[in-house]
Amino acid sequence: MTTAAIDTAKSVGAATSNTARAWNFCAGPSVLPEEVIRQAQQDLWDVSGTGIGILEHSHRAKTYDKVLAEAVENCRKVANIPAGYQVLFLTGGATSQNFMIPANLLAQNQTADYLTTGYWAEKSAEHAKMYGTIHEAWDGRPIKHVYCPTDGEIRYSATPAYVHMCTNNTIYGTQWRASATDGSIRLPKVPSGVPLIADMSSDIYSRPINVADFGLIYAGAQKNIGVAGTTLVIIRDDLLARNPRELPGMLQYRVHAKDESRHNTPPVFAIYMCGLMFKWILKQGGLAALHKRNMEKAAVIYKAVDESGGFYRGHARPDSRSLMNITFRCPSEQIDELFVKEASKNRMDQLKGHRSTGGMRASTYNAMSLEGCEALASFMREFAKKNG
Ligand SMILES: Cc1ncc(COP(=O)(O)O)c(C=O)c1O
Repeated sequence: MTTAAIDTAKSVGAATSNTARAWNFCAGPSVLPEEVIRQAQQDLWDVSGTGIGILEHSHRAKTYDKVLAEAVENCRKVANIPAGYQVLFLTGGATSQNFMIPANLLAQNQTADYLTTGYWAEKSAEHAKMYGTIHEAWDGRPIKHVYCPTDGEIRYSATPAYVHMCTNNTIYGTQWRASATDGSIRLPKVPSGVPLIADMSSDIYSRPINVADFGLIYAGAQKNIGVAGTTLVIIRDDLLARNPRELPGMLQYRVHAKDESRHNTPPVFAIYMCGLMFKWILKQGGLAALHKRNMEKAAVIYKAVDESGGFYRGHARPDSRSLMNITFRCPSEQIDELFVKEASKNRMDQLKGHRSTGGMRASTYNAMSLEGCEALASFMREFAKKNG
């Protein structure tokens, strides 16, 4: 390519704000910060002045060494991850963790406890069954997953190998939170010495967490910390030593830890994007600042639900309302459909609820702005007036 052609291509990355972009309320893959997209656009051509784009570098080259080292370092910085935990970037989505966790941590003659608070938590319990006994210490199906349980409602087995939870239920729009007015994380009191394992796919790095409370945290990157293609796993060292059965290398956490997340060719671009997102999160003021903003954003939309005189009905009980996925319905399915259509005409996209629950879902992850949430709330008020 000629120098002129490269310059022309680079100038695409230098363009100013793209007004053609819609408000994207997708549950994942989801909206990314514009400055992150622009940086990626530039680095596709030439990363770190190497004259080679990020998609074209070897995963064993010095350039990628630096990308990976920075991603891990900033991942640790964001959540203040203590020593004694490994940061891994794996593949196969959060879904693959459903079998990797029991395969690595549960012996066939042991029991693991699962808190079934939604669709993905149900899947996690289901997929674990072939590796040992699964005990549902909480089953939210009878209450249609409208809230996350209190400690008094949970029945643990005698000696669970671990307890599995999902901190934010993407489809039902519920989240483990302190109270209706406080969106800080609330954790179940697990039996002493039992590792708590959390699927944080839809609220990772959206509010402060104390990593030391967990044995293992995992999250598909495509909602709050990057793009599809990699899954972040934060695992405590003692769990790396559990070895309940023979497994291929690709399925062993300890192999990925030893090989620094490149046992095979890793998803370089997805890991690079996580690196950009961690830097962006730090620049926003870190998790406390993002949490404050996420509370404000969600409040704007819940207010439109609560002040609609019953036109909108929220799915979640107020003390379990998700700050990330806001689920609600109109008075009928026909009106739900019209809502989604009209919203789309107003450049508010991806608001249709999951196929298993229907209604609407507005996902308000880290990169969704307050302005986007205000635009949606204002549309909701107008729509209710017209159709109520
Ligand atoms: C909470 C939760 N867990 C797991 C998954 C599955 O993730 P993946 O598609 O990365 O396998 C999702 C996907 O939306 C999710 O929201």
